[in-house]
Parts: sequence; structure tokens; C-alpha cells
Amino acid sequence: MTREIIEHGSQQRSRSFAKTRYTAADLVQTEWERVFRTTWLLAGLEQDLRTPGDFFVFAIGSEEILVTRATDGGLRAFYNVCQHRGLRLVPDERGHTRHFRCPYHAWTYDSDGTLRAVPHRDAFSAELDTSTRGLRRVAVDTWDGMVFVHLGNDPEPLSQFLGPLVTQLAPYRFAEMNLVADQTCRLNCNWKAVIDNFGELYHVDFLHPQHRSMVDCENDTVHLFANGHTGVHVPGATVSPRFPLPKKPTPILAAQLAEVGLAPETFIDRVPEIRGAIAARKRALGQADGNRYAAFTDDQLTDAWQYNLFPNIVLSFGVDYIWIMRARPHAEDPGRTDFDKLTLARQPMATRPVRDEFDYAAVIRGDKSMTITIDQDVSLLKDVQRGMQSAGFDTVWLSEEEARVQHFHAEWERRMGS
Ligand code: FES
Ligand SMILES: [Fe+2]
Repeated sequence: MTREIIEHGSQQRSRSFAKTRYTAADLVQTEWERVFRTTWLLAGLEQDLRTPGDFFVFAIGSEEILVTRATDGGLRAFYNVCQHRGLRLVPDERGHTRHFRCPYHAWTYDSDGTLRAVPHRDAFSAELDTSTRGLRRVAVDTWDGMVFVHLGNDPEPLSQFLGPLVTQLAPYRFAEMNLVADQTCRLNCNWKAVIDNFGELYHVDFLHPQHRSMVDCENDTVHLFANGHTGVHVPGATVSPRFPLPKKPTPILAAQLAEVGLAPETFIDRVPEIRGAIAARKRALGQADGNRYAAFTDDQLTDAWQYNLFPNIVLSFGVDYIWIMRARPHAEDPGRTDFDKLTLARQPMATRPVRDEFDYAAVIRGDKSMTITIDQDVSLLKDVQRGMQSAGFDTVWLSEEEARVQHFHAEWERRMGS
């Protein structure tokens, strides 16, 4: 095995721990305070906030955050709560408006959160100072087209929280990609089980047998960053060395060759050469197309890349697409998670896709799909939670192949103070 683990600074690992962090209802509130209110959270996409008056609402745990493009062109984020009697202010997921008008007594706020109008103002005592009754702000910042909010006090700068992965991912220019699919799957497992699932390749040979014909999980490169973030890349356009070498390109490799104009039949008995040939071919095609791949390494042109942002984001990407996956915890139930998948591609989109929300059972029935691989993960996650709740299980044990999972949990423990 030639796994390379690159540790950016000294790191802690957590190799075994009690199952209760996935199952205990009394930990949910502590986790909210110590993990979700101490980190930057990916709230949505800047492309949903192109013009002043555009807004979206980001729901996570028991909170909703209203994110707007204000008239001065800047972004603002607020708790989605009217400051009169606490009604949830905006019921829509996203839209465009000049003002936010509370449906209860019509207190009206600007897109910068200022309280503009209070009906029957004279009926309030003189102490009501409307200049201090604007929407309650939270910190907001962006990274490459993604909008982040921070619900705690004195957040560190977003770029500092993200650290060196910002530089590593700079060539991708995700902000230039367009949203082509917006899905949410309601899962009956803890949000950390979702992140664990996307933190290791140990399960790939067993749960995703199709991957052996397109990636090499034996020779992966793992990054462990400060603040619990991790990354991995796996050689693509190749086959798994754990299985006999095929004589001719597998169907998926044949399709990848054809996509860049290379004849699959010329690679009979040359399967190990495919990865290099596709990289060279893409580079040549890119040169003819405005040198579009000049900033990328060969690894980036062919391989499967995935970075997890602590606490709850998984980014899976190639040079022309990204899947932004997010696990949103339920307000009280540790066994429920909303799992979002935003698919962006470097292609024009006339209209924004509508968000499709469904239960995991719809995926298992085959009525909905988030790609074959993720469907396989989703159909398994329901049984992770079921097993963990059993009296017959108490401790999670992690291998070196699960180094990213270890790293995530060490950071979770650091923030939880446990
Ligand atoms: S609760 Fe919003 S105006 Fe009364
Ligand atoms: Fe998987």
C-alpha cells in the first residue's frame, strides 16, 4: 500500500471512542453550542445572491439564517426572526424582494436588516428605539462562490479557518461554475455518520464494486489540515491494483477515452497508460481552448478529489464540476440529518434548478438518485444508525485507512472539550 498522509502541522488522531456521540439526545445541544456555533458554516451559493434584494434562507439545527445581497452590494446575514414578537420572518427558501415584511404585524426590514416601518408606531412607548431593533446580524463571508456564516462571537477570518486548502483549490475557480442540480435527502442517521462515510476509502471495494474499474484507492494521498479539515485524492482513469489487470479498457475507461477523442481499442494491453494519455490529451485540448487547464496539475486533470470542511461539508470535484455536499443536523434528534447535494458544472444554465427534497426511502426504491455511488452510501447509512442504537455495540474503532475520520473526530472532541 502506498498511501501518503500529509499532515499540515501537528495533528491529533482519535482512534476509538464511545458510540454516544451519534446516539445521545442530550449531546445535541452541547454539540450545537460547541461545534456549530464555533465554526464557519457553508450557507449557500453566491450565485443565488447576484443582485441587491436577492436572498436565501439557510436552515440548520433549530436555526434559520437569512442571507441577503443588500442595496450597497454587500452580503448580510441575519437570524430569520422578526424583532417584534419573534416570528420566523421569511418563510421562502429564496427569492428577491425590496423589503422583508413580517406577516404578523407588518414590521418591515430593508435588505440590510434595518427596521424601516412599524405600523401604529405611536402605540409603542417612547423607549422603543427602532434604530436598534433591526434584524440580528451574524458574520458572513465568501470563498470562491460559496457563502459562509458564523453564528458565534468573534469569528476568526474565514480564510484563516479554511487554511492552506484555499491555495490548493484555487485553480478550480468554483465561483465560475453553475448550479445544475439541487437535492436534499432526509436521512435517518447522525450527521457525523455521513461525514465519516465521506472520510474513508476503506468501504469502496465492498460497497462500490464499480469503482475498481475506474479509480485506484490503493495509492491515495491524504491531507490532514488544522481545524479538522481533510482532503484526499485518488488516481483516476485507471483500475484498482487490488484486482487482475484487464486486457482492454473497462467500459468506464473506454467512455473516458472516447470523451476526449481517444480510440479505446488502441489501449488493448495498455490499460496502465490510459491515465497519462487522458491527462496529456486534456492538456492539449485545453491549450486549444484558451489554455483552460494551464493552472491544473496532471493529477487534477484525471483524479478523484475530495475535501471535507469541518464540521459538515464534503466537496467532491474535478476540473469542470463540483458536488457540494452538506449534512445538516436535526434540532433535537441525533438520528436525523438533512443531506444536501449541490451539483455545479462549468456550463451555462438558463434557470436555477428547483430544490428536490426526498426521503432516503425514495432512493432505496429507485425513485430518486444522487448518483449510483451516493445511492449506495445512502442505502447503507440507515443501518449504521440502527446498529449503533443497539445494546450490542458500544465503541467505534478506526483503522489507519480511516485517518481522515480519526482527524475529524479529534477536532470534534477538541471543540466539545471531551
Ligand atoms: S412578530 Fe413580526 S411584526 Fe409582530
Ligand atoms: Fe461511499
